Amino acid sequence: MKAMPICEGVYWVGAIDWNLRNFHGYETEKGSTYNAYLVIDEKIALIDTVKEGFEGEMLARIRSVIDPAKIDIIVSNHAEPDHSGCLPAVLRAAPHAKVYTAAGAGVKDLSAYYGDLGYIGVKAGETLVLGKRTLTFVPTPMVHWPDNMVSFMTPDNILFSNDAFGQHYASDERLDTECDLPEAYIQARKYYANIVQPYGMQTGKALAACAGLPIQTICPSHGIVWTKHIPDILALYQSWVAGEYDDTAVIVYDTMWHSTEAMAHAIENAFLACGLKPRLYNLHYCHNSDVIADAMTAKYIAVGSPTLNNNMMPSVASFLTYFKGLTGNKKKSIAFGSYGWGGQSPDQVQEMLAACKCEALLPAIRQAYKPSAEQLEKITEDVIAALRAQ
Ligand code: FEO
Repeated sequence: MKAMPICEGVYWVGAIDWNLRNFHGYETEKGSTYNAYLVIDEKIALIDTVKEGFEGEMLARIRSVIDPAKIDIIVSNHAEPDHSGCLPAVLRAAPHAKVYTAAGAGVKDLSAYYGDLGYIGVKAGETLVLGKRTLTFVPTPMVHWPDNMVSFMTPDNILFSNDAFGQHYASDERLDTECDLPEAYIQARKYYANIVQPYGMQTGKALAACAGLPIQTICPSHGIVWTKHIPDILALYQSWVAGEYDDTAVIVYDTMWHSTEAMAHAIENAFLACGLKPRLYNLHYCHNSDVIADAMTAKYIAVGSPTLNNNMMPSVASFLTYFKGLTGNKKKSIAFGSYGWGGQSPDQVQEMLAACKCEALLPAIRQAYKPSAEQLEKITEDVIAALRAQ
C-alpha cells in the first residue's frame, strides 16, 4: 500500500473500497474510495481520514512517505464517519497531532462521535500556515451536513472539497487524466443526485464562495481528483445547482400483470409524439438511486402503480419516499395505475407526487383490469393533449 503523489509534497493516502455496494440506500455499483491527503511541509498535515476498518490501509500509505507519528495537523472537513471514522486510530499513531474542524457544528459532531479530543474550531477565512503552504478554511454548511467545510491550500491552489465534486467510484487511477473519464462523470452525476441534490441552494453558495479562488486541483473525499477537467465538473455542478432540464421524461412504475406496464408504454408514446426522450424504469429491476440520477434533469416524471391491498405497491412507495427526500427542481407529473377493485393507488401516487413539489399535468390516470388497445390509445391522446396545453 503506497501513497500516490498528487503534486510535489502532496499525497493521496486514502483507501479503496472495491466491495462497497450500498451507501445508506444508494447503490454503489462501482465501489468507492475514501480519500485522505498528506501534505509534507514544515508542519505535516493530514486532510481527512477514512472509514473505520480501513485504518491499516491508510496508515500503510502514510508510512510509505513518513512515520505517522510526525503528523502535526489533522483537518476534518466533515464529521460523517466515512471521513472521520479513523480519526481515533490516527490520533493513536500521532498523539501530538491537533485536529482542526469547523467551529460549532464540526466540533459538536466530532465530539458526539469520538468524545472530546481537543478539537480546534475554525471559522470562515481562518488560515493555518504549514510552512511554504497555507490552508484557508471555507465553511460550506449543508453540502451536505451542517459541519461541512472545504480547505484551500496555497500556493499549490488545491481545493480539498470533501464530498463536493466526489464520486462513488473505486479506481487505482487517482487523476481525471488517467481514469475512465466518462465513468467518472456518470458517477459524479449519480453522487450529486443522491447526496447533494436537496441542498442546491447551499451548494450554489459554496460554489460562489469558491468562485474567486484560483483552483488548479480539486481533491474530493470520494473518487478521482480533478485537474485538467475542472471547468467541466464546475459547469456540470452549476447546471445541476440551477436545476436545468434536458429533453428527457422519466416513467417509473411497478406492475403485477403488465396492465400498469402497458399504461407506461402508452405514456411513453405520448412523450415521443411531443418530441421528448422517454426513459422507462420498472422498479422490479431498477434501483431507486439509478432512477433518481436520471430523473434529476427530466422536466417530466410519470409514476405508476397497480393497487395492491388498497395501497400503491411497496416498491413505488419506496421510490416516492426516496424521491421526496431528494427533490431538487420542480417537475410536471403524471400519476397512473391499473386495478381490479378498490383502485386507490393512482390517487395515492398523485398525492405523493404533490408532496414532492410536482405539478400534476392531468388528473390521475386510472384503468380497471387489462386496458384494451382503444383505452391505451385514449391514454396516449390525453397525455399528448395535456403536454400540448401547457
Ligand atoms: Fe462522504 Fe458526507 O460523507
